[in-house]
Amino acid sequence: MKTTTKIALSTLALTLVTGVALAAPAAENWDNNCASCHGADGKAQTKTGKKLKIRDYTTAAVQAELKDDAMLKAIADGVKVDGKEKMKGYKDELSADEIKDLVAHIRTLKP
Ligand code: HEC
Repeated sequence: MKTTTKIALSTLALTLVTGVALAAPAAENWDNNCASCHGADGKAQTKTGKKLKIRDYTTAAVQAELKDDAMLKAIADGVKVDGKEKMKGYKDELSADEIKDLVAHIRTLKP
């Protein structure tokens, strides 16, 4: 095999591997940071989810209520209801890209 072909192929392989590695974190971040309240499936049928009356993000009605920029802000800065913190902000723990990926992840949640 010609060296140039080898280089091209290994670059391709590397792109595929890193592509997969980059795609995983949103689901992983969700499971690690969010699922305890929102549920792994986004239905919020968890103890905390029920207590805090978190909406079921898998329904079409709630998906329509959720706006991307409001979600970005909520994940970065947290959610306060009547001045009380219901969800903390994650901007110190997650990068802007990770937060964006989480919004995309929420959009994939289906019943
Ligand atoms: C301590 C429990 C808790 C954790 C952990 C938590 N949330 Fe929340 N989250 C809430 C509550 C409560 C609300 C407000 C009620 C609702 O949306 O139904 C909320 C609201 C939201 C909203 C809706 C904001 C809007 O536009 O109305 C998004 C998006 C969200 N959370 C994403 C996340 C993500 C992503 C994570 C993990 C990085 C996370 N949450 C972790 C409790 C939590």
